[in-house]
Amino acid sequence: MTPYKYIRNCWYVAGLSHEFKPSTLTAHRIAGKPIVMWRTKDGKVVAFDDRCAHKRFPLSKGRLREDGSLQCAYHGLCYDESGRCVEIPSQPDRPIPPKAKIVPFPVIEQDGVVWTWPGDPARSGERKPPRTPEIGDEEWESIDSGPMHIPANYLLLIENLLDITHFYPLHDSNIGDIENSRIPIEYEEGEVDGNKFVKTSRHVQNYKQPPFLTDWFVYDVIDREHTHCMVSPGLTRVVMRVAPPGELGTDAERGYVLFHTHTPIDDRNHIWRWSVNCKRDHMSGGDPNVSAAKRVASMFPGVVEEDRWALEIQQKMFEIPDEGYSELFLKPDKALRRARQIFLQMLRDEQAGTDRAQAAE
Ligand code: FES
Ligand SMILES: [Fe+2]
Repeated sequence: MTPYKYIRNCWYVAGLSHEFKPSTLTAHRIAGKPIVMWRTKDGKVVAFDDRCAHKRFPLSKGRLREDGSLQCAYHGLCYDESGRCVEIPSQPDRPIPPKAKIVPFPVIEQDGVVWTWPGDPARSGERKPPRTPEIGDEEWESIDSGPMHIPANYLLLIENLLDITHFYPLHDSNIGDIENSRIPIEYEEGEVDGNKFVKTSRHVQNYKQPPFLTDWFVYDVIDREHTHCMVSPGLTRVVMRVAPPGELGTDAERGYVLFHTHTPIDDRNHIWRWSVNCKRDHMSGGDPNVSAAKRVASMFPGVVEEDRWALEIQQKMFEIPDEGYSELFLKPDKALRRARQIFLQMLRDEQAGTDRAQAAE
């Protein structure tokens, strides 16, 4: 059985920027860690261990005071924006013990996305969060799903996203397109900003689109480039570019940039978000009064329900010991197989680092 767990030394999406309203506490569980986050008065997002230093009450159930400090709802200890305790109501005349503080997590907000690193903070500089420039860019219309809880290990979603051969039959009622999955893939892997990526590309020319793609992107016969990329264990990017034959790269080009974020809660649950991005002035073919982004996004909830159904069942099957069973890998499974290898290597490296640190203690 594949030891499906989760990687901690990785940047994960805690939410899109618009999910962090000023002075509002949010509770997260990321890679097993309980985390409280909020946007401070000066606009910065901060993240801390969600356990009060006193009796581990969740600080996300507390409140932010006028001076910006966070007050625990149980006995009222208050913490400033650096995590230091600044007030203990039950013993106002005594010095605050040095142990009275909460542990911060690294946070980076960029391109309309808030990332956090649930692992060893000393290693957070080894990788950078992937870029998502289309989210929050005024030229693009960006529609996202919000957080969706999926009761399955997040690697199963990553594999699902790299594998379009499941569009038929799983998504036969909406985006099912067996022809697309038969188009030969070009495969690429590499590393950007410390993140190992796996990417597949499918190119077609003078190709008749299935009706749902004409509905989204207007043209009936097209040249198309379609890529799926696991950018990191936290993000998958899917890009589709279509244009009339010979016109890719010109103003006639249409398509989307689709981000999927996969943030592990624990080894059996994760949060999935999608964000579909189309040029703001691109209207759909199906209804010229409705933008391409809205038209694409309107179809996604049904697709997600089908994937959720499959992932949840697949997760349950992993609970059964292998006992001689092993999975079959087909030719189109190359990218997901490689993604799984990268994932397992990251897990092993992380475990080796933890073992070294414990041996040195
Ligand atoms: S548990 Fe937070 S103040 Fe006691
Ligand atoms: Fe799917």
